[in-house]
Amino acid sequence: MDLSAELKRLVTRVEDGLDRHVPRADTRPARLHAAMRYSLEAGGKRLRPVLTLATAGLFGAADDRALPAAVAIECIHTYSLIHDDLPCMDNDDLRRGRPTAHKAFDEATALLAGDALLTHAFALLATAYAGEPVLARALIGELAEAAGSRRLIGGQMEDLLAEKKTDATADELEFIHLNKTAAMIEAALVMGGLAGGASEPACDTLRHAGRHLGLAFQIIDDVLDATADTATLGKTAGKDAKAGKTTYVKLHGLDAARRIAADHTAAARREIAALPGDTAFLDALVASMASRTK
Ligand code: IPE
Ligand code: IPE
Ligand code: MG
Ligand code: MG
Ligand code: MG
Repeated sequence: MDLSAELKRLVTRVEDGLDRHVPRADTRPARLHAAMRYSLEAGGKRLRPVLTLATAGLFGAADDRALPAAVAIECIHTYSLIHDDLPCMDNDDLRRGRPTAHKAFDEATALLAGDALLTHAFALLATAYAGEPVLARALIGELAEAAGSRRLIGGQMEDLLAEKKTDATADELEFIHLNKTAAMIEAALVMGGLAGGASEPACDTLRHAGRHLGLAFQIIDDVLDATADTATLGKTAGKDAKAGKTTYVKLHGLDAARRIAADHTAAARREIAALPGDTAFLDALVASMASRTK
């Protein structure tokens, strides 16, 4: 199994899917649709949609079957980044190697582009899977829960509330990471399972794998914020310390943060090993995320 070749193949599928399933940039109002595509087309690792396609493949589904679900997840992820970067949140100027949406356009347009990507994700699921109402309902329910007030948005809320807090606890920090980040990674895996017709126990295993991968992923994001440079990251380095964010690095220190991330990566790989089918690609992808540089 060639990790980089298979990853490249799946990223290309995702990017074709984004092009196919998101309104064209010249759709009226063109400024809004151009802003949606500006952030989507800036690139990024495409981890979540690739996880969805790879997981559906484990259960024998062709890429096409899970593609709208993968695109919906990337739309929500991208909306969450546009809003995360707004001056009222993390106030970032750089994302995916480009000026952030509110810098390239303006704050109102960035806000609306985020809103529109969020809404589009659910419209896409409802229409693409209209012929299979049970699957459509399951996918919409899964994504709505992951993106909602108890998970992604709730995690973002507590992330902001914890800024400058000097007495934040490890439990509070785990809540933030589990929800702002792990929720969408869990959903990416579970939605791949649903599209592939995975059993309920297999979906539970996917959820556990996603939880560990998601925690590792955000801890490494915190480590990279503290150790990498802006040019490599394509987003501003060193922002967490400046903003007084509660992170694994702040609470546990760099070495312990790296150790905890490694433990979660190992746990995610154990869960993946328990899945049916050829898990070599998923396993290699999860392992590669542990040593990522951006
Ligand atoms: C950034 O996610 C936000 C976090 C949850 C850490 P990614 O690191 O996946 O960002 P892109 O999609 O590659 O730009
Ligand atoms: C953001 O976490 C998680 C989201 C849900 C967008 P961060 O604020 O650490 O993400 P970056 O570092 O800006 O990508
Ligand atoms: Mg943030
Ligand atoms: Mg941020
Ligand atoms: Mg970060």
